[in-house]
Amino acid sequence: MSFTVAIDGPAAAGKGTISRAVAAHFGFAHLDTGLLYRAVGARMLDGLDPVEAAQTLDPASLERDDLRSPAVSQAASKVAPIPEVRAALLDFQRAFAARAGGAVLDGRDIGTVICPDAPVKLFVTASDTVRAERRYRELAEKGVETTFDEVLAEMQERDRRDSERAAAPLKPAKDAVVLDTSQMSIDEAVAAAVAAIEERRG
Ligand code: DC
Repeated sequence: MSFTVAIDGPAAAGKGTISRAVAAHFGFAHLDTGLLYRAVGARMLDGLDPVEAAQTLDPASLERDDLRSPAVSQAASKVAPIPEVRAALLDFQRAFAARAGGAVLDGRDIGTVICPDAPVKLFVTASDTVRAERRYRELAEKGVETTFDEVLAEMQERDRRDSERAAAPLKPAKDAVVLDTSQMSIDEAVAAAVAAIEERRG
């Protein structure tokens, strides 16, 4: 039987960490849908037309190196508003969600567009400064040279593009449980997500 957990939210709110942890907890498969847009963005930076890049992408074998770089992050948020790019990535995501044994998908439009009937929808968010602080620390640990202000500005620009676009903008589904992780530790946020899922799973 399939059981889909839809997790949406802005960058660096804790979606990825929470998604991986709840997938492990329940033994569900996990798809980070941002990687699909990142792969298309990376191929655009290589000179490919973004629509063609999306239509010819093999989502089952994503090259994971370099997809997290700031340049690819920006490229991903530039290809994501293109309706034909989103359409090309739809079937793969829906098939993943329908797999037997349960699936967690995280992204921006999982609860609103990809899986509107998902039994559990979480919208994971946190304040701008908390998210920028987390991302800044992450980058610093990797040795990437940047400043907090640069990270904050880049994140706000990306949030604006994700929220203001016409096609599948970032917003909580009407029936989503909103989880603000600004004041939560990772363990607390994961526990809250697990509780919300258990409540709906019966
Ligand atoms: O979650 P992320 O930072 O890896 O996402 C990269 C970009 O892809 C982000 O700017 C928004 C876009 N995206 C999207 O439009 N829809 C999704 N389901 C996932 C990501």
